[in-house]
Amino acid sequence: MKKLEEYIKKVEDRLYDIFPSDTLPQGELIKAAEYSLSAGGKRIRPVLALVFCEMCGGDADKALDAACALEYMHTFSLIHDDMPCMDNDDLRRGKPSCHKAFGETAALLAGDVLAILPFERIASSKTISPSAAVKCIRALSNLCGIEGMAGGQQIDTAMAGEELSGELLLSMYSMKTSALIKAACLCGVYCAESPDEERYVRYASEYAENLGLAFQITDDILDVTGSTEELGKRTGNDAENDKHTYVRIYGLDRAEEAAREYTEKAAAALKAFDDRDFAEQLTAMLLGRKK
Ligand code: IPE
Ligand code: IPE
Ligand code: MG
Ligand code: MG
Ligand code: MG
Repeated sequence: MKKLEEYIKKVEDRLYDIFPSDTLPQGELIKAAEYSLSAGGKRIRPVLALVFCEMCGGDADKALDAACALEYMHTFSLIHDDMPCMDNDDLRRGKPSCHKAFGETAALLAGDVLAILPFERIASSKTISPSAAVKCIRALSNLCGIEGMAGGQQIDTAMAGEELSGELLLSMYSMKTSALIKAACLCGVYCAESPDEERYVRYASEYAENLGLAFQITDDILDVTGSTEELGKRTGNDAENDKHTYVRIYGLDRAEEAAREYTEKAAAALKAFDDRDFAEQLTAMLLGRKK
């Protein structure tokens, strides 16, 4: 998809310009953050921020700082997710995990840095208006916190090996995965500053909720059926950590069916947007992904 590559390039061209020189005394921290950022993720969340800005009538460039912010936040979540106290994963994005390459202290602090940089990046943006910036910051902080990503990660790790209902599983997925995807879509909507914002927020939220569930279920499927080489992360890790996943509770067939259903629901929410061809293609592509 040529357009996807163009969006990714826009983000990657700007992703590192906020970092000071790594020759500073705290350079190891900068190196660790840049290492994980540049290791080669799919950049889905920043792309969604750009796409939603465009679908709401804004120029994608208006949302570039928010897009970078999303990739910082996401990369932070992965660095901490891999640490021994969480999923204890040695491989991420095809390279040794941050704590393997730089040690636990630098990885922990690189995570801290990448969790805070999003707010600096958005607050000091020259293209995001002050009122849109406040909305982006409120969405990001709310959706990454207690009721969002961190809350979901707490349930994910604390419930390993315990009884967990299908209902709590979905609520955990919604928090740990849909929430950050929702932050990405909403930042795009806010940056566009459309008079139709309220309606767009409603449909972007519905899209993100469902896409996030499909995305996490697919991630769980790939942990069982995928290859470490293609994924760039170790497979079989969920079972090893006694994690509750959709696949474990319902089996592979039902997981595949559920991923399809949530993808369809996400695609249906896109109908509220006029210029939605690319978003539809991206949504379908994420269901069939191999990494
Ligand atoms: C992995 O996200 C974490 C989940 C929420 C499943 P991605 O699959 O988007 O990871 P990268 O950014 O491509 O490495
Ligand atoms: C990731 O869930 C959720 C995050 C918020 C980071 P996983 O633990 O399944 O993600 P991977 O498989 O390690 O990428
Ligand atoms: Mg995890
Ligand atoms: Mg993990
Ligand atoms: Mg996983």
